[in-house]
Amino acid sequence: MDKRRIIIDTDPGIDDAAAISLAIISNRFDIRLISAAAANVDVDKTTKNALKLVEFFGVDIPVARGCERPLLHELESSPDIHGESGMDGYDFPEPRKKPLPVHSVEAMRRVIMEEEGKTTLVTIAALTNVALLFTMYPEVKGRIDEIVMMGGGIFRGNATSAAEFNIYIDPHAAAMVFRSGVPIRMAGLDVTEHALLHKDCLIKMRDSGRVGHMLYSIFSHYRDGDMDTGLAMHDPCTIALMLEPDMFRMEDHYIEVVTEGIAAGALVTNLERKMKIGCAPNVSVCMGIDEKRFEEWFTDMICR
Ligand code: RIB
Ligand code: CA
Repeated sequence: MDKRRIIIDTDPGIDDAAAISLAIISNRFDIRLISAAAANVDVDKTTKNALKLVEFFGVDIPVARGCERPLLHELESSPDIHGESGMDGYDFPEPRKKPLPVHSVEAMRRVIMEEEGKTTLVTIAALTNVALLFTMYPEVKGRIDEIVMMGGGIFRGNATSAAEFNIYIDPHAAAMVFRSGVPIRMAGLDVTEHALLHKDCLIKMRDSGRVGHMLYSIFSHYRDGDMDTGLAMHDPCTIALMLEPDMFRMEDHYIEVVTEGIAAGALVTNLERKMKIGCAPNVSVCMGIDEKRFEEWFTDMICR
């Protein structure tokens, strides 16, 4: 089976590390680049964490360092969720590899434009790098088949009561990406807060081998949920959406992003009342998830 060519824009980040692990383990993706974003922790740390993961798996995936801060707002990292390093809990060796000598926006342009065929952008961080890519090199849009995004939430926020973290960190970048015209499938908090791993599965993964042990170790330091009530696997939902799409119920929505004020980062869309806002849908949104199937799928992937 042909592997799907993807670029992952990420801020590892413990749930990012899980998503990247699943993408590598699945053997279903030609991961042409990992672009490091600033969000969970600063971009030096996310770049180093991406290099640590690539070396942990012994795979030849280039890593490029992205923007140091959002387009307009100040960076508000969340080390309280992912630890000071952004991936606390496992003793990864210092990476020997170095990031590419170009900015990740340029690295993404090269991957997208220099090869035949289309590339999928998997975005599991704030959208600063992607917004700049579309602004500096609009020609890439025609060579991207879709954006598969962890971000947003129709009915909930987690950074504020109105805004999900990835959108909240850089709402201007998110607004640009949602207006870009590139097809988007969005796994927001409406489903990712139900994509939970519980203790039994976590222990099964821990005892399954080296990868499961590494993930269990970092999950033990992950503060988005707990092992009894469940750890929220936000970013892995993008991998599940690509590999097992019928695990999700989708709805097409027209979405705009609030960019300023106390509700900055909020997504606004029409609901059943069909008020007169917006126009043709621009996002295919995950509105439901088979929770049991997600946990079984995740566990099987790691334990195989
Ligand atoms: O709101 C969850 C998102 O914010 C995830 O991508 C997590 O890694 C953090 O970046
Ligand atoms: Ca992330």
